[in-house]
Amino acid sequence: MEDKKSRGNFSGKIGFILASATSAVGLGNLWRFPYLAAEYGGGTFLFVYIIIAVSFGFALMVTEVAMGRKTGKSATAAFKELDKRFAWVGVLAFIIPAIIVPYYGVIGGWVTKYCGVYIVGQDKAAAGDGFFGAFSGSTWEPIICMLIFDAITAVVVILGVQKGIEKAAVILMPVLIALCIIVAIYACAQPGALDGVLYYFKPDFKRLSGKTVLAALGQLFYSMSLAMGIMITYGSYMKKEDNLESSVRWIDFFDTLVAFLAGLIIVPSFFVYSGGNPDKMNAGVGLMFITLPKVFATMKAGRIIGAMFFILTFFAALTSAISLMETMVSVFIDIFKMSRLKASIISFIYIFAMGIPSTLGFGIWSDVKIFGMDILSFFDFISNSVLMPICAFFTAILAGFILKPETIIAETEECGNKFHSKKYYSFLIRWVCPVGIVAILISSVLSGLGIFTL
Ligand code: PHE
Repeated sequence: MEDKKSRGNFSGKIGFILASATSAVGLGNLWRFPYLAAEYGGGTFLFVYIIIAVSFGFALMVTEVAMGRKTGKSATAAFKELDKRFAWVGVLAFIIPAIIVPYYGVIGGWVTKYCGVYIVGQDKAAAGDGFFGAFSGSTWEPIICMLIFDAITAVVVILGVQKGIEKAAVILMPVLIALCIIVAIYACAQPGALDGVLYYFKPDFKRLSGKTVLAALGQLFYSMSLAMGIMITYGSYMKKEDNLESSVRWIDFFDTLVAFLAGLIIVPSFFVYSGGNPDKMNAGVGLMFITLPKVFATMKAGRIIGAMFFILTFFAALTSAISLMETMVSVFIDIFKMSRLKASIISFIYIFAMGIPSTLGFGIWSDVKIFGMDILSFFDFISNSVLMPICAFFTAILAGFILKPETIIAETEECGNKFHSKKYYSFLIRWVCPVGIVAILISSVLSGLGIFTL
């Protein structure tokens, strides 16, 4: 990815959409979205998320892709080139993936474990109540699973065979979507699931708070790989003649669809298993691993479907982890002039070592709480709810007031393409994004302190 010659190598618009979608669709959609939706009021969260996706998500993704394509550079260099005063935002865009990727490996390890569970036929045991807690709370097993996941990611990055994996992922993504649809239909047809489906769809505005909106915003950034420079890098590989606006719409659509379906499987099922009590909907980061085996256990071909589901999730997680790690590696190569091998090994050691505290936070270090959060949740919070909104805010200021929306619009209209939502875009990037982000941050801090609730 680091040499200039290989830029612009997506084979057309479809190639760009698929490559970006395979980076975007990952644990954010399958693991993170459902547990947040369950916790933050089901339909309330879904409603807020969709509104944020078509506004913030659309505007920021157009901006980032356009910044990348205009400069032909990845995040750190792109910010510097566009405006020197914003160079530090590029550095922030490097720090964010560096915080995320170690704990991404922890969850990737859990997925690896569950692939194994279904392959060797422990599926019934996995549906038992204490199974996930015993596994995630043990010391060595989660570390070894994480090591396997991180090592596979590193080998792909070292060999530079992302293209091959992406090709496989392109075939696997429609399979994943189809499987999600089948399992969702099954889960929703279970006795008692209807109330859970209602919980997932029906917004309850009494549950709306600054915290909910901030959680949805952080989830949007995480899921769509925004506010951390990734889409800038992807944009730098996009051809000028490809239609940027419609590509962005497709990526946003795919990403939201997978998250929506994952939620539709997990949230109603969890609602049933927790006795239909909305106050008990906060199983946290383990939700997917606790609920899904229970769903599969009631299915006829549960073991095979479960195995397929976790293997597909594994690939979705792997492609995302690869693109996260590649960001680190290319910065090391560019700035410190390292070889790909050395940069990858250093990144791997860092990712693995930094993942260990997050893993242990579910076991022998479970007493360690930072602002009341376990270690993994703390890293997740700092990156998604603090640093990414800051990065997004300054990206919006740069695009809306320094470069001006016209510059971004001109980039989207290269080679005779038309940007249909120009006015909508300009309004969003200048006003809605910056003002919205500040308002969401302030109201969630205040509601966190108990001073004010929306
Ligand atoms: N968007 C990915 C997901 O939903 C996570 C990710 C973030 C991947 C940034 C690459 C870069 O899992």
